[in-house]
Amino acid sequence: MAIPLLEKYREFLSVTDETPIVSLGEGDTPLLPAPELGKKIGAEVYLKIEGCNPTGSFKDRGMTLAISKAEEKGTRAVVCASTGNTAASAATYAARAGLRCIVLLPEGKVALGKLAHISACGAEVVAIQGNFDQALEIVRYLISAFPVEVVNSINPYRIEGQTTGAFEIVDVLGNGPIYQAMPVGNAGNITAYWRGYKTYQAAGKLTRLPKMLGFQAAGAAPIVQGKPVPNPETVASAIRIGHPASWETAVQARDESGGIIDAVTDEEILAAYQLLGSVEGVFCEPASAAGVAGILKLAQEDFFRPGDIVVCIITGHGLKDPDTAIATSSTPTALTADRQAVADHLGFSP
Ligand code: F0G
Repeated sequence: MAIPLLEKYREFLSVTDETPIVSLGEGDTPLLPAPELGKKIGAEVYLKIEGCNPTGSFKDRGMTLAISKAEEKGTRAVVCASTGNTAASAATYAARAGLRCIVLLPEGKVALGKLAHISACGAEVVAIQGNFDQALEIVRYLISAFPVEVVNSINPYRIEGQTTGAFEIVDVLGNGPIYQAMPVGNAGNITAYWRGYKTYQAAGKLTRLPKMLGFQAAGAAPIVQGKPVPNPETVASAIRIGHPASWETAVQARDESGGIIDAVTDEEILAAYQLLGSVEGVFCEPASAAGVAGILKLAQEDFFRPGDIVVCIITGHGLKDPDTAIATSSTPTALTADRQAVADHLGFSP
């Protein structure tokens, strides 16, 4: 059996002999070379395929720790606000641990694959007639007034668990990359990766910290604009967030690393999404393509140098959002069940 992520990196995490590790085989995701993308931007590109986690997103790295610590404490119920992935991960790990799980979702704005996963794992779903930020405000109230534990990234164990993504990258590359690109929504993950690299630096495991490149969707870019966005809107529903909880630490990651937080349009996100699928064979959800859209945008200004090592965090699996996949693909050709008609259509001559 695979070693649980929390065992593997135990020395860097709040795991004690009293912690009942709730694991579903998270972590150890592929760091895949992306040669075609590399040619396009003029650097060496790797994709960290976080869709290979048990619930199809990076959230499982933090959820394994948050749920394990909740169980250690004797918690009976957990709650989160979510654009979908946190909720799918919470529902799954809570089911495994036998905890009640309550999720608050922005009504009509969560992708279908996530809804399916949340339902299958038996979470109690509340569809909030509002956005993610409003749902998170309600969660803050619930945890202040009632005996229920939050498993959003305002729970410090979530961010701590997600530092393991940085450890894995360094374990493979032998050092930090030169750049790390990723989508930014509630800004927990950029906070976690930067913390992870610094933890590894302090432990003498790397000599080079990467410059952190974060990308928000243009219609949901509060950090880029320097002010909250009251009505965020983007095709990348996972990062449809107007007031990120980890705003300050994301800015800190950007500034300490000498990096950038910029915005990419929905058109740029969808172009990167289709490029990843059709050229690199990596099917991700739209939000996950934002980091790739970002480096393609930077490359237009000759940002990268040959030999630069760029890691993009591909945060979630494409099956999370089948509606976008179908809406952005060409319609199938309908033909009669006739072998000649099919051969003719395909341009095959006898
Ligand atoms: N990519 C995906 C696929 C996500 O689901 C999220 C966030 C992000 C990127 C952004 O990460 O919030 O740490 O900056 N999803 C949260 C959720 C908000 O509820 O599932 P972040």
